[in-house]
Amino acid sequence: MYLEIKNVTLLYDRAMVLNEVGLRVNEGELVSLVGPNGAGKTSLLRAVSGLVKWEKEITKGTTLGKISITGSVLFNGEEMTELRAHQIARRGLILCPERGRPFREMTVMENLQAGALLCKDKGVAADTIEMVYSLFPILKDRTNQLSGSLSGGERTMLSIGRSLMSQAKFLLIDQPSTGLAPKIKEDLFQRINEVHGLGITILLVEQDVSFAFDLASRNYVMSRGKIIAEGTSSELLDDELIRKTYLGL
Ligand SMILES: Nc1ncnc2c1ncn2[C@@H]1O[C@H](COP(=O)(O)OP(=O)(O)OP(=O)(O)O)[C@@H](O)[C@H]1O
Ligand SMILES: [Mg+2]
Repeated sequence: MYLEIKNVTLLYDRAMVLNEVGLRVNEGELVSLVGPNGAGKTSLLRAVSGLVKWEKEITKGTTLGKISITGSVLFNGEEMTELRAHQIARRGLILCPERGRPFREMTVMENLQAGALLCKDKGVAADTIEMVYSLFPILKDRTNQLSGSLSGGERTMLSIGRSLMSQAKFLLIDQPSTGLAPKIKEDLFQRINEVHGLGITILLVEQDVSFAFDLASRNYVMSRGKIIAEGTSSELLDDELIRKTYLGL
């Protein structure tokens, strides 16, 4: 399950949000993508998941402006830029958006079951719910609670749990730590590590560079729509210019 992004350029009107971006995540890796606000990280994840194309269709001819996107996204060698968002998700390449987006008026259990709609085998779905509950015991405690009333951290866990229900093989996780207290953050990062331990490949976008670099085997640094550095955590931290200018450490 590898992901190879090549030469992805994205323009909103004439603003270049992604400028010939390339990166690769190999089978079984946990790779981080870090960079300042507005660098283009979320835009890249959305493009990979087929959501930018979808936007392109609904904004056509409206005042929202023109979107132009070029480049190539290979998932296990298959071109994703030709596919629609649901087809990409069906292949196991799944986005966990920032702050999660559960169906608010559904309970935790119903949200997890909705994630399993793609899963035809009910036995597998039941086993996966058990697995999600053992990874995130707090979700089990909240099983009948409406998702709209979950805390930020719980919502993020539910979002990851829901992707596991849809048999994710590769997770694109967008800033899971946003708004979380340090202790909860630490716990969540441990859970993400456990999800990775299950054999799921992960591209983790994160603003908390220290946490991201602790978890990831390799990292990419993005600034103003460009990948400006790549390396192991120690390689990047040893580079004073990168550390001070882009990592804020
Ligand atoms: N739909 C859109 N239309 C126009 N500009 C957009 C759109 N979505 C994002 N942008 C612009 O693209 C740039 C990159 O935004 P993006 O959300 O990808 O950054 P990011 O790296 O995820 O930042 P953050 O760390 O704050 O989440 C920003 O300047 C943003 O204003
Ligand atoms: Mg973002």
